[in-house]
Amino acid sequence: MMLDEFADGIWLANGTEVVAAMGFHYPTRMVVVRLTDGALWVWSPVALSQDIRAAVDAIGPVGYLVAPNHLHHVFLADWAEAYPQAELWAAPGLAEKRGDLAFAGTLGNDPAPPWSDVIEQVVIPGNRITTEVVFYHIPSRTVLFCDLLQQLPVGWFKGWRAIVARLDGMIGLEPSVPKKFRVAFSDKDAARAAVRRILGWSPKAVVVAHGAPVTTDGTAVLERAFAWLRPRK
Ligand SMILES: [Fe+2]
Repeated sequence: MMLDEFADGIWLANGTEVVAAMGFHYPTRMVVVRLTDGALWVWSPVALSQDIRAAVDAIGPVGYLVAPNHLHHVFLADWAEAYPQAELWAAPGLAEKRGDLAFAGTLGNDPAPPWSDVIEQVVIPGNRITTEVVFYHIPSRTVLFCDLLQQLPVGWFKGWRAIVARLDGMIGLEPSVPKKFRVAFSDKDAARAAVRRILGWSPKAVVVAHGAPVTTDGTAVLERAFAWLRPRK
């Protein structure tokens, strides 16, 4: 089964591995949400295979393709070609990077009307690596993080990459913010305000693009993951 029903109206799909800088390979995941009118909202689309396409088509028409940060865009063109009626929505900075794609809009702090009754969103500003948009599926109380939270299983990387990944905090028992992202926050107050809003949603589940989903106690997991961001007393 290509799509796993995570809760009512929300599915997860694992994609192919991608190779990033310095040969680090990552597992990939996308999320599909069925909106009130039946249209599908696709978050961080993975490589489009015939199997994925058939599984998606079986649950509804693709209405929206969403890139939650400016790093997750490599498969968008294939999806846009396969689903020409779907709207593409870009994280801040992506439209400038992908001038070849026609975006319907840039994601901000207010959800666009087509999905605002089931999905909340907040921009996490002030990070020099990327500006990530975090989403919240209200009915299932699931928060969606793209790269800002990661949790790769012990043993995922080998050799020197395993050492670098462990030191960076990419490997662990629950999702955490990799150190490269922590040091890249130039405006911690702005980030803190965004995280406060996420915690205010009281998420039950946490889904990340690279790592296992958390299914219970999501708010506590997020409080631990962002403890380093708290102001020092
Ligand atoms: Fe990523």
